[in-house]
Amino acid sequence: MLQLLAEATTTCRLCGLHRGRTHAVPGEGPPDAKIMLIGEGPGFHEDRQGRPFVGPSGQFLEELLALAGLQRSDVFIGNVVKCRPPQNRDPLPDEIATCTQTYLDQQIAALNPLVIVTLGRFSMTLFLPGEKISRIHGQPRTVEGRLIVPMLHPAAALHQPQNRPLLQADFQRLPAILAQVEHEQAPAPVATPPATKRPEDPPLQQLSLF
Ligand code: URA
Repeated sequence: MLQLLAEATTTCRLCGLHRGRTHAVPGEGPPDAKIMLIGEGPGFHEDRQGRPFVGPSGQFLEELLALAGLQRSDVFIGNVVKCRPPQNRDPLPDEIATCTQTYLDQQIAALNPLVIVTLGRFSMTLFLPGEKISRIHGQPRTVEGRLIVPMLHPAAALHQPQNRPLLQADFQRLPAILAQVEHEQAPAPVATPPATKRPEDPPLQQLSLF
């Protein structure tokens, strides 16, 4: 399914962004990734190569992943929109709606990741509309049964170095967050019923009085 979606992005003309693209950037990563990272949209380098986060913010993202003990091949990396907006402008609401309904939603359904890390406000707003990233970054929230961890966009640290330690701290907490979800989602151990009735068990009629 992920492969089919990726192929469909290469010929997609559902919004105007296709006009300026060199390559669509569907996203990449193992189909059993537990963590999915969602950025905003391809930039210059991503458009050239057809791969997500391969420019300067990708280099910083790899450093951040290393702080969490991860490599990029451990996670699925995608974007809100799959084609580069002209001059890296913000994606427009109709571009976001079309692209997420057609591709991102299906990618999430196919991957079913344990944790989604949103990178930047456009990605965060898909799951947590009305929130401010500066206020909630690093705080996991459950949305429709899935853990969403909103984080700043790596480019925010390249433009404003004071954001660097915030992103580093948020990524360092990722292994503990993942371990917690895995623990919560592990099947409960099956209780072994006592072989014989214990003497302290109250008779059934007595229980029914309460
Ligand atoms: N920024 C993004 O949001 N996504 C990319 O793939 C690259 C840079």
